[in-house]
Amino acid sequence: MTAQPSTNKKVTLEELADLCVRRGFFFQSGRIYGGLSGFYDYGPLGVELQRNILNSWWRWFVELRSDVYGLDGSIITHPRTWEASGHVESFIDFLVSCKKCGSEYRADALLEELGIRVTSLTAESLKRAIEDHGVRCPVCGGELSDPRPFNLMFTTTVGPRREQPLVAYLRPETAQLIFTNFKNIVFAMGATLPFGVAQYGKAFRNEISPRGFLFRLREFTQMEIEYFVNPRKLNSCPYFEEVKDLKVNLLTAEDQEEGRQETREITLGEALERGFITTAWHAYWIGESLRWLWSLGLDPRHLRVREHVKSELAHYAVQTFDIEYYFPFMGWKEIVGISNRSDYDLRRHQEYSGESLHIVDDGEKVVPHVIEPSFGLERVILAVLTEAYTTEGSRTYLRLKPEIAPFKVAVFPLVKRDGLDTKALEVYRILRAHFRAYYDDDGSIGRRYAKADEIGVPYCVTIDGQTLADNTVTVRFRDTREQVRVPLSSLVDTLRTFIEKGVTRAETSYTVSAGKEPEGR
Ligand code: GAP
Repeated sequence: MTAQPSTNKKVTLEELADLCVRRGFFFQSGRIYGGLSGFYDYGPLGVELQRNILNSWWRWFVELRSDVYGLDGSIITHPRTWEASGHVESFIDFLVSCKKCGSEYRADALLEELGIRVTSLTAESLKRAIEDHGVRCPVCGGELSDPRPFNLMFTTTVGPRREQPLVAYLRPETAQLIFTNFKNIVFAMGATLPFGVAQYGKAFRNEISPRGFLFRLREFTQMEIEYFVNPRKLNSCPYFEEVKDLKVNLLTAEDQEEGRQETREITLGEALERGFITTAWHAYWIGESLRWLWSLGLDPRHLRVREHVKSELAHYAVQTFDIEYYFPFMGWKEIVGISNRSDYDLRRHQEYSGESLHIVDDGEKVVPHVIEPSFGLERVILAVLTEAYTTEGSRTYLRLKPEIAPFKVAVFPLVKRDGLDTKALEVYRILRAHFRAYYDDDGSIGRRYAKADEIGVPYCVTIDGQTLADNTVTVRFRDTREQVRVPLSSLVDTLRTFIEKGVTRAETSYTVSAGKEPEGR
């Protein structure tokens, strides 16, 4: 496979961001005061999309499984947590500043933006790359300082004591709350290996250079699973059969270290057999994560699985694979990280707390190893919106899967008179008891369809003269603009079936008759 999939449409970041702000998906936080870099607020449509994706994730990874429990840990927790986890010492990026104007940059991100590849992320190699390529300050051309470590955790103080406040941290990952609750969950739930704990919620990182709209934020949402396995059973995954034949686009660490950027198309079974992925449980969670991303409508050709090279590995990781999405405006970027964290975290918490964090498996005390699929919600949303953004001539629409679309249905009277508006309001009241719906009678029907398309409404229900005569309505499909006539008596059931099955084109088995929306609307 080539490094850049040719199938991905050429939407620009500006076009996407413009639609998101204009239509109420996202707003820059604190905009009325000039905005705060790295913080976004979810608007009315954004919260709907967010909830739908979170619900889908929860259903896929928790509700439909019997081996994963849920958790919702606190954002601020005991500060020792972050000493034990290694974040106080090691959660750093390298910062360079301009000696002339004082601008500050994350060294690796600056190099990447300039198209300079570094396969080793140490202070020395970043310094060497800056010197070798003569990199200067992009703002004023000044000389750059040597890279120096910068800890990404936000601090805060807890309690009223002003002289000796308790310094605490906003969590930089949700994961640690799962580790510190490991024993509680084992006792409360009678959990036995293997099992997982899933949690979603806010995480905070004082990123040196937030970038790419929703891509690199200082406050964002993680959806994480810590899956605990007996260290002797890392290769006995009872579900591996379900994913072993899935084909993935894999870029190994070795390939990258030898200068190759081409992915190999390979099944997860083969990737495990050839030792590219070292344990069956790790391969399983890569497959399962991909399957969920595909279910959201992401094209498999726009996703690749890239292994971290050694110097990129987080302080806790033995092996990590990122699932990257190809954004036409910024190339391949991580949206999910799937790490083998071994027993690093539980052992460190044992050491720092003095509590034993073992579990009994097969009559033997073990400290389990952990495979961790970690999703960034805003990055998944950015990928989903990029994938959905479609232009056809002058028409722009979001081809969102009905399951995750913010509004499922819009209700319009063809014209706002002759009793059509009264009937349309009646239909709207029926539908809104079942689906997220809105009513619109403002302006031409063409403009109302165009707006609904732009925010990804999969179905528009229109009330016309015939409705008053025979109690049928038209249902218009966003993607094809086809229209079908449906009796009002079966409208709720029909729409429910469409949404559940993800129907995006006319299928007469559900309807009375099908036709095309008239041209020149
Ligand atoms: N617990 C493991 C962990 O936190 P990570 O790779 O640092 O691993 C996991 O983060 C995911 O969180 C990433 O794949 C990404 O989707 C998301 N993420 C990380 N930093 C982010 C940021 N600054 N802005 C938005 N999302 C971020």
